[in-house]
Amino acid sequence: MTSSNIQNILLTGGAGYIGSHTAVALSQTGHRIFIFDNFCNSDRGAVKRIEAIIGRPIVVIEGDLRDTALLTQTLQTHQINAVVHFAGLKAVGESNRIPVEYYANNVQGTISLLQAMQKADNHPKTFVFSSSATVYGDPKYLPIDEAHPLAATNPYGRTKHHIEEILGDLAKSDPAWRIACLRYFNPVGAHDSGLIGENPNGIPNNLMPFVAQVAVGKLAQLSVYGDDYDTPDGTGVRDYIHVMDLAEGHVAALNYLTTHDGFHVFNLGTGRGYSVLEMVKAFEAASGKSVPYKIVPRRAGDIATSYASVAYATAELNWHAKRNLKDMCESGWKFQHMTAKSS
Ligand code: NAD
Ligand code: UD1
Repeated sequence: MTSSNIQNILLTGGAGYIGSHTAVALSQTGHRIFIFDNFCNSDRGAVKRIEAIIGRPIVVIEGDLRDTALLTQTLQTHQINAVVHFAGLKAVGESNRIPVEYYANNVQGTISLLQAMQKADNHPKTFVFSSSATVYGDPKYLPIDEAHPLAATNPYGRTKHHIEEILGDLAKSDPAWRIACLRYFNPVGAHDSGLIGENPNGIPNNLMPFVAQVAVGKLAQLSVYGDDYDTPDGTGVRDYIHVMDLAEGHVAALNYLTTHDGFHVFNLGTGRGYSVLEMVKAFEAASGKSVPYKIVPRRAGDIATSYASVAYATAELNWHAKRNLKDMCESGWKFQHMTAKSS
């Protein structure tokens, strides 16, 4: 990277799972990073551990996305050139229970952030957004490409769809904007150091944090949600992607936006799926621990199979996922027993 490519990048939600790994990847590429987070689903300990990995302090601004004035001041003070917007609420089940809070945090929060970008004297117009494969809803065909119809089946997914539409309208209104929506498939694993990873509050909703907590002895048994799907072993198949590959996808997207204006959408996945039982076996092999499980009825809203077409991201971003299933499980286990432990 030449010094002219070095940017001041604001990461909203940068203390969270994906933001912390992306902070490491961007920092190690030479960018200067700034974190804006209200710590509603993370803590300052994660920032300390990012600092330990990259070997230098990070400027952290504690605040809520809906505080437009604080965001405006942050963008100006630190002469931010680009924003990577991770901050948001992300639990599907919770979004069904408290939809207004999801729209307020995710949609209103994004509007506030965009208003701050418009108000700030330095007018940053480069924006990368954390979208999700959940915007596709039930797959009509596989692999899922970016042209697949959007039909999210829950309020969380609809917040992502609404935000994508707002960003598309913004890019149409002013060609100076450079926007990438990254539709993540299933991020798993952790940084190789074992210092940062995914450590959800309470009982995990997602498969791999649950499996890791069973392996470490914090939870007794995994419930496998159905073994009667139309898949090779009857359990659900997903496109799991190593979180560091995902993090590097953000570096590639920011690089792409230096030469491409307008609005762009990319799937970030590996292009192949693994079943729940394949994931359990791989985690057992990586950890040397057994992961007892029982088969229970299907979880409402789940689909049989989801995996990405990664052709567009590979061609345009010059990026592809490099790490394999073993890497995902070994790093996830290292983080679980070294840092998250049984706390
Ligand atoms: P996370 O909960 O670990 O991180 C989100 C961060 O945003 C947290 O640090 C939280 O404190 C912060 N935050 C939330 N609301 C905020 C607000 N109003 N103001 C300031 N900070 C706020 O989640 P993650 O897994 O790192 O996900 C990051 C983004 O990626 C989210 O937008 C999520 O919807 C999206 N995404 C995640 C996954 C996944 O499986 N983890 C999949 C697809 C998309
Ligand atoms: C979930 C979210 C989705 C989000 C994605 C990102 C739901 C309904 N969907 O998708 O919006 O974009 O995470 O990570 O929450 N499983 C078990 N036992 C468990 C947990 C999961 O068997 O305790 C199975 C599921 O049935 C599924 C697979 O494991 O087949 C993966 O589940 P999960 O990690 O929750 O991810 P998704 O359902 O793909």
